[in-house]
Amino acid sequence: MKRESLVSINDFSKEEIIDLLEKAKGFEANPNRRVLEGKVIATLFFEPSTRTRLSFETAVNRLGGRIIGFSDAATTSSSKGESLKDTIMMVSNYVDLIIMRHYLEGAARYASEVSSVPIINAGDGANQHPSQTMLDLYSIYKTQGTLENLNITMVGDLKYGRTVHSLLQAMSHFHPTFHFVAPDELKMPQEYKTFCDEHGIPYYEHTEFSEEVINEADILYMTRVQRERFTDLMEYEKVKNVYILHNSMLRNSKPNLRVLHPLPRVNEIAYDVDNNPKAYYFQQAKNGLYARQAIICKVLGIDAD
Ligand code: CP
Repeated sequence: MKRESLVSINDFSKEEIIDLLEKAKGFEANPNRRVLEGKVIATLFFEPSTRTRLSFETAVNRLGGRIIGFSDAATTSSSKGESLKDTIMMVSNYVDLIIMRHYLEGAARYASEVSSVPIINAGDGANQHPSQTMLDLYSIYKTQGTLENLNITMVGDLKYGRTVHSLLQAMSHFHPTFHFVAPDELKMPQEYKTFCDEHGIPYYEHTEFSEEVINEADILYMTRVQRERFTDLMEYEKVKNVYILHNSMLRNSKPNLRVLHPLPRVNEIAYDVDNNPKAYYFQQAKNGLYARQAIICKVLGIDAD
């Protein structure tokens, strides 16, 4: 793998994460800097996206770079049978950086091995979503004033949810306590619980989404049950409405609690939560612009200061 690619959040050390958060803060203060002038960047999205693709493209535009790419692989030669390897080798002839989302776990790692330019993983199946994690960390840091010793409750689809997998690993640097709220069908996979054990991170599993667990949380990280990850739609039907956060459930929550969600939501956060000052998911998505500006500069080795 080329040193500069960002495939997994584990590609960054704690020091690099903290440095990126500082850089994101700088971009929030001044997002318009022409440090990518002369660079061409590709966004290759083999899976649908609103926030990730548009915030990456906004980041490039605000930094003076240019964008090529696609948001629907059906319009590309992959629909004629061209392999991912050939697609990446072709596109890396044209651009300085590839930002890719793919439905297969491991696709970003594979792309980074065959590409002649850095790859940023914008989500690979149920595996990792490291740029989301950077904006999640930035959102947590901004709202809590620290990343240390926080009580983080993850709710919903913890099996297929790549954002919770990446966030869990990143938070391991900062002494968290986790609560995992999920039905049996969507529990946190064993490999991530083993990761917690190996890093001395306490975690508690719940099937009930109770006010008791909400009231202990500093961060309530809601997730969508992802229809597209189920091979058996009957299984999806069983769990799709399993947890719904209503405003009344936040009445005794901590003053510093913030509700995060990578979005899109379906019905797991009721609209009556949106006006609660503890709802932070739209600001969280906005923070994605600054976190992604910092990531792009890092992988390209550009000092924006
Ligand atoms: N959070 C996230 O990945 O959103 P999109 O699927 O809209 O990019």
